[in-house]
Amino acid sequence: MKIAIGFDHGGVALRPAVLEALRDLGHEVLDFGTDSPDPVDYPEYARRVADAVVSGECDRGILACGTGLGMSIAANKVKACYAALLSDCYSARMAGEHNAANVACLGGRTINPDLAKAIVEAYLDTEPDCAQRHQRRREQVCRIEDDMVPDTST
Ligand code: RB5
Repeated sequence: MKIAIGFDHGGVALRPAVLEALRDLGHEVLDFGTDSPDPVDYPEYARRVADAVVSGECDRGILACGTGLGMSIAANKVKACYAALLSDCYSARMAGEHNAANVACLGGRTINPDLAKAIVEAYLDTEPDCAQRHQRRREQVCRIEDDMVPDTST
């Protein structure tokens, strides 16, 4: 897969672990930076990664800031970006399978690099679960995105 990555100064500590995971798994990387501890604003990075995924240029995205919160909030403002803040491997699998999250967000100040690598590996090893109940729920989320009431009739 082609994976877009973005970090702010709070998340950049996870950059080597994320790159290692992507390299080990043989994925192509579109790198939006930052690679420096100098302060930057996370929304810009979230926007670039989310746009790369939603446009189809990349298959999925990985973002990290201090907590992963700012990145996930910002990325989820982009239509058709479904960003999941992950801090354990079980959630990483569920994000990919049940939620069809197309972007994973990590916290550089909340998890260590080894766990970040394991989370990225678990997340990228998933495919969306096509069970009808999961598809229905994902479609309901899409209706919220389009400012419609979730359809619970099916
Ligand atoms: C930067 O200090 C910090 O606010 C940022 O990395 C992120 O945690 C925001 O959610």
